[in-house]
Amino acid sequence: MKHIRTQVGIIGAGPAGLTLAHWLKQQGISSVIIEHRSREYVEARVRAGLLEQNTVDILERLGLADRLKKEGKLHHGVYLSFDGERIRVPFGELTGGRNITIYGQQEVVKDLTNAWLAAGETLLFEAPATQIVDFEGDAPTIHFTHEGEEGIISCDFVAACDGFHGLGRKSMPKDSFKEFSVTYPYAWLGILANVAPSSEELIYAYHERGFALHSLRSDTVSRLYIQVDLDEKEENWPDERIWDELSIRLGTPGWELKRGPIFEKSFTPMRSYFIDNMQSGRLFLVGDAAHIVPPTGGKGLNLAVADVKHLVDGLVAFYGKGDQTVLDKYSETALKRIWRAQDFSNFMTTLFHKSDTHGSFTYQLQKAKFDYIKISKAYATTLAENYVGLPFEQFS
Ligand code: FAD
Ligand code: DHB
Repeated sequence: MKHIRTQVGIIGAGPAGLTLAHWLKQQGISSVIIEHRSREYVEARVRAGLLEQNTVDILERLGLADRLKKEGKLHHGVYLSFDGERIRVPFGELTGGRNITIYGQQEVVKDLTNAWLAAGETLLFEAPATQIVDFEGDAPTIHFTHEGEEGIISCDFVAACDGFHGLGRKSMPKDSFKEFSVTYPYAWLGILANVAPSSEELIYAYHERGFALHSLRSDTVSRLYIQVDLDEKEENWPDERIWDELSIRLGTPGWELKRGPIFEKSFTPMRSYFIDNMQSGRLFLVGDAAHIVPPTGGKGLNLAVADVKHLVDGLVAFYGKGDQTVLDKYSETALKRIWRAQDFSNFMTTLFHKSDTHGSFTYQLQKAKFDYIKISKAYATTLAENYVGLPFEQFS
């Protein structure tokens, strides 16, 4: 039986768990991370790419952004396209110079994992948490398995950074939260392709055939997404069909989509989900463990990092001054940003996806919004400030 003692036991080595561990270490608070999957699996899992300014600033302050600063792509604007008409929202200009960076989530995970292990800290892979015990008292434990052995982490606090399917949320008392959930009647097919991006900035597009998004990872790798039916199968989407659809949906006069070999394909159902309480006793839920947004607008990872900030604030006040009031308000504080992100992600999703017939009432509302972004600086600024992420000083 392995027995580990630490101040904060962290379940999950995704962006939330890793950022939390590093930040606590910087504040002199010890933690240990256990991760269900193998290192190879976690580092190869392709997901997000859009990092808000807040997220980049945090990683920079923690000394974890050297590669991100070199290889990440800074963006000052975004293209929006509707029925083939493309406009640019210059979010840098509209938000006093705030911006976003495109850098793959799995690169963030690699950088943070390397730095944590290089510092001699503990992160056990293939070590699933099986039970979280006694978190209503002040000496909780996390039970896990690793290399065929049972293990226990004794800690002061448990941070469940274990994603949507993790153990953390399931361990919360059933009557301690309300659930909110929306499932959208479509999914994304996301691809990575070895081809130079066809646009320097991202393009979000509504088309009568459905949504499409052009993003990128580097000068030689493009990341693209396309709206598909919920029950779509990979075999229905050979490479040529994907490129044909993307070309049509993203198309605008005088522009051409470059094609190249596709080396990754994955499907993501669109869903909004959250619970209205993210803590019980000394158990705290962080990131996707407590909330999911549809990916349109790129908020999920950024919300996870914002949760981390609020939890660190609470733990620093607790250990530094014996003040528990900040921790007690963790959920309340985090939920303000979560509601905002839920609204923004829903706005971006419903603005650009096809959910009703072309020309229907729903379509006309979508078009009215797009046309208003074109002429109203106020409306464009609303989109821009949510897209780059609201500063913690103004909104937390
Ligand atoms: P996760 O990354 O899910 O990490 C949780 C970890 O916990 C996992 O490694 C899991 O293996 C581990 N775990 C689970 N159960 C256990 C257990 N019992 N014991 C131990 N470990 C456990 N967000 C953005 O901000 N910007 C974007 O551009 C963006 N694009 C996206 C595109 C797509 C296609 C998708 C699918 C998502 C996108 N997101 C985006 C969302 C983003 O990827 C997630 O919000 C982010 O991964 C959340 O991080 P997390 O650390 O909370 O959870
Ligand atoms: C990416 C993903 C998103 O969901 C988004 O809105 C923008 C970019 C990406 O993976 O690059």
